Amino acid sequence: MSDIGFDSRVFLAPMAGITDQPMRALVASFGKGIIVSEMVAVNALQWKNPKTYRIADVRDEPYPVIVQLVGGEPKLFGEAVKLIEQLGAASIDINMGCPVKKIVNNRSGSYLMKDVSLAAQIIESAVKNTKLKVSVKFRSGWDCQHINAVEFAKMCENQGASYLTVHGRTRSEFYTGQSNWDIIRQVKENVHIPVIGNGDISTPYQAAERIKQTGVDGIMIARGVLGSPWLISQTHNYLEHNIQPVKPSIAEIKKTLLQHIKNLIAYYGEDMALQISRKYVCWYCKGLRDAKRFRENYMHITDYQMAYDEINNYFDECSAQEEEK
Ligand SMILES: Cc1cc2nc3c(=O)[nH]c(=O)nc-3n(C[C@H](O)[C@H](O)[C@H](O)COP(=O)(O)O)c2cc1C
Repeated sequence: MSDIGFDSRVFLAPMAGITDQPMRALVASFGKGIIVSEMVAVNALQWKNPKTYRIADVRDEPYPVIVQLVGGEPKLFGEAVKLIEQLGAASIDINMGCPVKKIVNNRSGSYLMKDVSLAAQIIESAVKNTKLKVSVKFRSGWDCQHINAVEFAKMCENQGASYLTVHGRTRSEFYTGQSNWDIIRQVKENVHIPVIGNGDISTPYQAAERIKQTGVDGIMIARGVLGSPWLISQTHNYLEHNIQPVKPSIAEIKKTLLQHIKNLIAYYGEDMALQISRKYVCWYCKGLRDAKRFRENYMHITDYQMAYDEINNYFDECSAQEEEK
């Protein structure tokens, strides 16, 4: 196992529209884990887009944040990394795995797995212009006929990447099927820099199993965190201290959801925060009784007091019924 240079080997994955400051603060409040931002577009940084600047600015956050950049022009990366460094990033990640059409058509994200020479120039430009670590996140390949993660990883290493994160799906698979951890193992066996494995981890036990199976130096979790922000620290505690994960009570889930909404309000203001909170509510009540009715009721909330009352009523009812069992 190689040292990644962070105080954990469990990463909160970058998720556009999800791993914003409110989510990062929430995940960090549970304990250790490595926090990654949403992706930040290098061309929007160049245009000095205020919204993008705000996303990229992590100076106020009391834990290290890895900021992820996405784009397709080497020169812009050189400028972006300097700015990101000033805006408080602990380290920089380059997105070479995003499958979304708009990104790919812009010669960015997973498109770069098809244009290895452009990918190499981007990494070189980023590495040359910052003293921070530069890592790269990519997929197994473009499609099942073009699985090139091992060669791609070697190129990243040659260009000076500090570590790599591999999501074991091709671009064509988007999020379907299963992450191919055998490809991740092959990458690990073929480079000297640390490799982080990613894809389909939703419990600390799965994380431990994948590390054992593939020898990866760390684990990154994305969708498993939705509605379960404690998963990162639970996984860290299990891997490092053999602390068994405990399922949170319904009261604890309620408290976490309310805290998440408070974080959203502090960052976005009430109107926008409540709008955004609708998707989170769906995740937090997953698997609980009568969740459909609650989700429908929550869609009609108009202010924080209404949201607070709906959440309290629903979760308290669930708790009471749980106790009766
Ligand atoms: C809503 C959503 C947004 C995502 N945004 C990003 C992103 O901005 N950058 C990135 O590299 N990957 C992004 N991903 C991919 C995840 O980081 C991760 O690679 C993928 O979901 C597989 O991990 P999982 O099985 O743990 O979800 C996103 C995934 C989801 C579900």
